Amino acid sequence: MRPNIKNIAVLTSGGDAPGMNACIRAVVRTGIYNGINMFGVLQGYQGLITNNIIPMDARSVSNIIHMGGTILKTARCLEFKTDEGMALAYENLKAHNIDALVVIGGDGTFTGARRFAQKHGVHVIGVPGTIDNDLYGSDFTLGYDTAMNTVIEAIDKIRDTADAHDRLFFVEVMGRDSGCIALRSAVACGAEAVLLPEKETSIDDLVKQLGAGAVTKKTSSIVIVSEGHKQGGAYDIAKHVKEKFDHYDTKVTILGHLQRGGSPSSFDRILASRLGYAAVNELLKGSSEMMVGLRGNEIALTSLDEALTEHNFKLESDLLEMTHVLSI
Ligand code: F6P
Repeated sequence: MRPNIKNIAVLTSGGDAPGMNACIRAVVRTGIYNGINMFGVLQGYQGLITNNIIPMDARSVSNIIHMGGTILKTARCLEFKTDEGMALAYENLKAHNIDALVVIGGDGTFTGARRFAQKHGVHVIGVPGTIDNDLYGSDFTLGYDTAMNTVIEAIDKIRDTADAHDRLFFVEVMGRDSGCIALRSAVACGAEAVLLPEKETSIDDLVKQLGAGAVTKKTSSIVIVSEGHKQGGAYDIAKHVKEKFDHYDTKVTILGHLQRGGSPSSFDRILASRLGYAAVNELLKGSSEMMVGLRGNEIALTSLDEALTEHNFKLESDLLEMTHVLSI
């Protein structure tokens, strides 16, 4: 039975990801198409607390499908974790007669959404939006594909200069808890080694690997370091390696936040449109505390509980092995 939902708000929270704007557009227009009054919350949960809530119409989301970032802005809001902050947020929603929320973000965003729904009875649907691709229940999260393309373009350029100077490069990519970008970009760029948050790799093992390349007359190498690696970031690793292995001139590149920006890829635009459309349709069907995701090529629903307790990115052992085999 269709619940009595008349007003829906959308927000983006946590780290921005390319495709968030395309998703906001889909959410707002699907709502309006169905006769719903649509609102945007600025600066994520912070805007719920400070009542930074604006009405949105079909034209509010014109010409944004191709833009990175998020027109609604985003924030990581500590106050929303407190009972007082949540109560204020609820008061503001009620003042606008908002019955339901679409939240676009990662695991922090979903943790807040689940608690808000359970505490105050607000209907909530989550859309996975993070470059980290680490949410259980969706094969892909918004922004991951674009971020991968950005990383690959950057590493290809580094490969040119590494080769020209016979250098060893350590390239740090994002993913505090998830090595998805690191592992897959290592395969896509033919990196000589990769260091992941999910796997212990000793400096000695890394040196052995690089040494094997030197024996077979490799004159340059690239090591991809995930920012969450237990032994430190790319600068730390480079320093330790240099102490034991000085065959090459060593350089470090931190790709950093450039991985989060840029125009979304075709994949991310289509995914964003599908998930935004599905999120509103699910709310109108009565679903709540669920995440809409993509499994195979189908839209799939996963409870926020499940999305938050399972770790999505399982290290693909074939990819890991391949980084050794294919870089001899
Ligand atoms: O969650 C997305 C992400 O880009 C992570 O890969 C990274 O560790 C983190 O956000 C960085 O967050 P901030 O921009 O707040 O420093």
